[in-house]
Amino acid sequence: MIYKTALITGASTGIGAMFAQVLAAEGSHLVLVARSADKLHQLATDLEQQFGIQVCIIPQDLTQPDAALRVYEAIAQQGITVDLLVNNAGSGDYGEFGQRSHHRQSEMIKLNILSLVEMTHLVLPQMQQRQSGGIINIASITGFQPVPYLAVYAATKAFIIHFSEALWAENYQTGVKVLVVCPGPTRTDFFAVADMERNPGLMAAQTYEDSHRLVKQALKALSAGKSTLVTGGWKNQAIANGSRFTPRQWLAKLLEPTFRPPNS
Ligand SMILES: NC(=O)c1ccc[n+]([C@@H]2O[C@H](COP(=O)([O-])OP(=O)(O)OC[C@H]3O[C@@H](n4cnc5c(N)ncnc54)[C@H](OP(=O)(O)O)[C@@H]3O)[C@@H](O)[C@H]2O)c1
Repeated sequence: MIYKTALITGASTGIGAMFAQVLAAEGSHLVLVARSADKLHQLATDLEQQFGIQVCIIPQDLTQPDAALRVYEAIAQQGITVDLLVNNAGSGDYGEFGQRSHHRQSEMIKLNILSLVEMTHLVLPQMQQRQSGGIINIASITGFQPVPYLAVYAATKAFIIHFSEALWAENYQTGVKVLVVCPGPTRTDFFAVADMERNPGLMAAQTYEDSHRLVKQALKALSAGKSTLVTGGWKNQAIANGSRFTPRQWLAKLLEPTFRPPNS
């Protein structure tokens, strides 16, 4: 299915930039949101030249109060209607909870949860009126169980999974598709931003998935009307399903030494 206009948050790098590439190649016009205006501008120029589509960029820090509303008003002023919303912007923060910055944890909750909920609330009613449209929320396989030393991040992703699956059920008969995508480790700036690269052992133990394949899988699952997609191979499926058959207390205890930061 080709969406006329797609709005992607966190589109300046990583998985969001890959969504922009793939959707542009399929002929969608784009609205790209992130903080880095220079990167958004460069990506927009490249995609417009390569695919002959129109790209609107909105440099916006989504942790700011009313950020989603500002994005929505900016596109409404230009007469843009969103047919596909990709709530992708997100960040992590690695380390022992009590030792990490309170400010960073709060910003992460605002970005990963609040901006996603607000963005969704702004575009969903119009999609319901038109009885068409799609929303893709990017969670993570960390959202299926408690993850020591990524405690807040994993909990924000659990929120996204539950929130999205509830919205899927509210909407599957309305013509609006809602999908939550749960990727495993994917090579992007995520690990540097989350301060995870200081644990080389943990980084080396990951099996990384390909972001192009991830995006293609996500768009196919959305078209098929699925509620939830765990991308990547069997390892990600095992992690996502492990918590169904294992007490969560046991799982959290098992994961603790694996995720424990060096020198702590
Ligand atoms: N990489 C992985 O292994 C992995 C696995 C599972 C799930 N995920 C999820 O996938 C999504 C994309 O992550 P990624 O791996 O592509 O990471 P990334 O390369 O670090 O990209 C994060 C994107 O979010 C934007 N962003 C960060 N803070 C923002 C803010 N305050 N306001 C607006 N935009 C902001 C960044 O742009 P600016 O810096 O320009 O603002 C960037 O475009 C996230 O939700 C992440 O949790 C990633």
